[in-house]
Amino acid sequence: MNGCVRQATEFAPLVAPRKAPQEGRTIPKNLQSTAPEPERFYLVGAEAKGERRAWDLEDSMAELAQLAETAGAAVIGQTRQRMDGINPATYIGKGKVEELKLLGVELGADAFVFDDELSPAQQRNLERALEVKVLDRTALILDIFAKHAQTREGALQVELAQYEYRLPRLTKAWTNLAQQTGGGAARGGAAGVGLRGPGETQLETDRRLVRHRITMLKKDLEQVRSQREQYRSHRRQQGVPVVSLVGYTNAGKSTLLNALTGAGVLATDRLFATLDPVTRRLSLPGGKEVLLTDTVGFIQKLPTQLVAAFRATLEEITQADLILHVVDITHPNSEQQIQTVERVLAEIGAGGKPMLVALNKVDLIKDPLQTQRLVADHAGAVAISALRSRGTEQLLFRIESALAEQMVPVRARIPYAANELIAAFHRLGVVITDRAGAKGVLLDGKVPPGLLSRLEPYLE
Ligand code: GTP
Repeated sequence: MNGCVRQATEFAPLVAPRKAPQEGRTIPKNLQSTAPEPERFYLVGAEAKGERRAWDLEDSMAELAQLAETAGAAVIGQTRQRMDGINPATYIGKGKVEELKLLGVELGADAFVFDDELSPAQQRNLERALEVKVLDRTALILDIFAKHAQTREGALQVELAQYEYRLPRLTKAWTNLAQQTGGGAARGGAAGVGLRGPGETQLETDRRLVRHRITMLKKDLEQVRSQREQYRSHRRQQGVPVVSLVGYTNAGKSTLLNALTGAGVLATDRLFATLDPVTRRLSLPGGKEVLLTDTVGFIQKLPTQLVAAFRATLEEITQADLILHVVDITHPNSEQQIQTVERVLAEIGAGGKPMLVALNKVDLIKDPLQTQRLVADHAGAVAISALRSRGTEQLLFRIESALAEQMVPVRARIPYAANELIAAFHRLGVVITDRAGAKGVLLDGKVPPGLLSRLEPYLE
């Protein structure tokens, strides 16, 4: 893992404290606070009649409000519109735009935030009509990611996603990107890349700068990725099984990682608190060791730019031996969250992996019968409270037996010189017979698939 970075990305945050108290409001001296006021966001959701949605609009809007608050804004209201069809020019209908404009002035809104990703043209038209900042769910998620990225890899990934998002949205209003990004684009390499070329408009220069920066970021990321691949292949060589924690954001993955391994990872009631993968050793009840990794949480409508940019991080999941899916079973949308996680797993190519489901936060369920019912409804799941370390023993047993099922029978004659491999067979596998001979030790038993390649030369 790389060291911490001071500032996650080159981008000025989309959600920032207000610069000055609202005009026209006089606050008595004794009540004046030096704390900056959060920006005031008004949320907008819309759905076309007859549209089939995985999430109810109302639930999706509740989540959008949580995203806005996590980004540091204050939600001052919301509206939902059911329409015959989405307006290609302004997403919502003309009348609604006018209504919002008046409302925005009345409430002192700093931005309107739309629950769906707006097309670049829609965003532009809306900004022109509403005369305040217009954001969408994707921009908000990218902003939160940028604020929470801790490592160099995380920061590079977010910055790449931000530029990919911004490229088709560049307008004259964004002029002089080289200055805006603190020369970030120009710092990308080639001398003079930030200067306007002959006959080039400012917009063309900005597009060129962004494309250049994207190329540089991809190069940097390739380098980080190859380091990660080296680490992973070293890990694979050791043959220690890897269990990957996945889950909807805020499900309790970091809390569980901490409860099981004492990892000391930040676990808070914020969406996407942890983005950077963390790996810790975990001992199972039978004494075997596994590696437990925690990674970025999922969310509905996860921006495609983020999925692409976080490919390396998400690859951790596709390489795992077992996926441990943590579900906040007390969340009113837990079923939709489960489906969202399964859909993202399928998208990144981890759909068919062996999976164990942990129904988390059962300490919040007062009726034990209800917990039993939930477990019965989710075949093979384990009820836990990561926060209170309840059910975690049973979870460890279940991890152990899920991994044991994957073990492959082998018979290998290992020379004494390869004593490390003999030890790994004992430590990670199950030894049925162990016979010492002149050429080495004959071991009969089962090993995790990860150890097979190292045993290959000695198989009988
Ligand atoms: P992301 O970083 O968004 O992916 O979240 P996460 O899945 O890592 O969740 P995290 O561990 O940060 O927990 C989110 C919130 O849920 C925190 O406030 C935790 O204290 C709380 N939480 C986690 N597990 C439990 C639990 O078993 N019971 C209760 N009551 N709260 C829990």
